[in-house]
Amino acid sequence: MSTTPEHITVIGLGNLGRALAEAFLRHGHPTTVWNRNADKAEALVAAGATEAATAAEAIAAGDLVIVALLDSTVARQVLEGAADAVAGRALVNVTSGGPEHARELAAWAAEHGAEYLHGAVYAVPQTIGTTESSISYSGSEAVHQRGQASLDLLGKGTFLGADAGLASSYDVAILAGMYGMIGGFLHATAMATAAGIRATELTPMLLSWLSDAFPALSTFAEEIDGGAYSGGESSLAMNQAGLTTIIRAGQGLGVPADTLLPIKELIDRQIAAGHGAASLSRAVESLRSAA
Ligand SMILES: NC(=O)c1ccc[n+]([C@@H]2O[C@H](COP(=O)([O-])OP(=O)(O)OC[C@H]3O[C@@H](n4cnc5c(N)ncnc54)[C@H](OP(=O)(O)O)[C@@H]3O)[C@@H](O)[C@H]2O)c1
Repeated sequence: MSTTPEHITVIGLGNLGRALAEAFLRHGHPTTVWNRNADKAEALVAAGATEAATAAEAIAAGDLVIVALLDSTVARQVLEGAADAVAGRALVNVTSGGPEHARELAAWAAEHGAEYLHGAVYAVPQTIGTTESSISYSGSEAVHQRGQASLDLLGKGTFLGADAGLASSYDVAILAGMYGMIGGFLHATAMATAAGIRATELTPMLLSWLSDAFPALSTFAEEIDGGAYSGGESSLAMNQAGLTTIIRAGQGLGVPADTLLPIKELIDRQIAAGHGAASLSRAVESLRSAA
């Protein structure tokens, strides 16, 4: 059975840390906060938070210590500066970083007698505490179980596993997918506006088409996991022809092919290796063999 930690500490009161502290205060949690620049604590103190003079003092106060700092280097520096205070604490680090950073910090925490849970936040500060916020965790399952009632106040929580780096492994892969989508969106709007169509006119139709196309990703994922690319209606050869047409049309409008050429190159390499009839998902093999 999970219990609500009596006292929450939030280390780092940037945009995310302030939103996290506000959510805990809204739900009546005693909350201690610390930030390098103390002025960011003022509104939280007015809302009932206790401001600690040092990170060590803040860490010592919290049953659950949330760390939301700029990056993994800063998180490590701040925690190392408060190393004497971490023994017996449950650290929940939602600072973005790669899986190796999470694993290193988890090992450091263990050496200093602390439990470590890493969190990957899928939200912006404005949506923390709403149904539009979700957070994936990995590392100490005991911390997740004990802190779950409190952590779920921030957004829908999912525990992925005991490897502290796992939440980050998902996170960086998911964000890579997001930036690929944004690259496509930017290319689409550049082509549309060059043709006299406003981005706001294009986007509803683009969104509609994308949402129809999204289920294909689940099929592609099964093909990738199974290493079986023979089926499907979307062959590499067909997509190569389609991309060539789109690239030429863009260039005709004065839009360079910067975002599309890398994808076409992945496809070209598979076709050159004799896989033109295979599913588009086989293009992932170009990335794997490049590693
Ligand atoms: N904002 C989001 O939408 C969002 C979403 C998901 C994940 N994240 C991740 O959450 C983390 C925090 O994001 P944020 O939006 O809150 O960033 P932010 O607004 O830029 O805040 C950065 C925080 O780091 C502190 N900091 C920077 N350098 C420091 C140093 N050398 N020593 C001590 N403290 C230092 C800042 O303190 P000062 O106030 O003293 O400068 C501030 O508390 C990042 O890793 C971010 O990638 C953010």
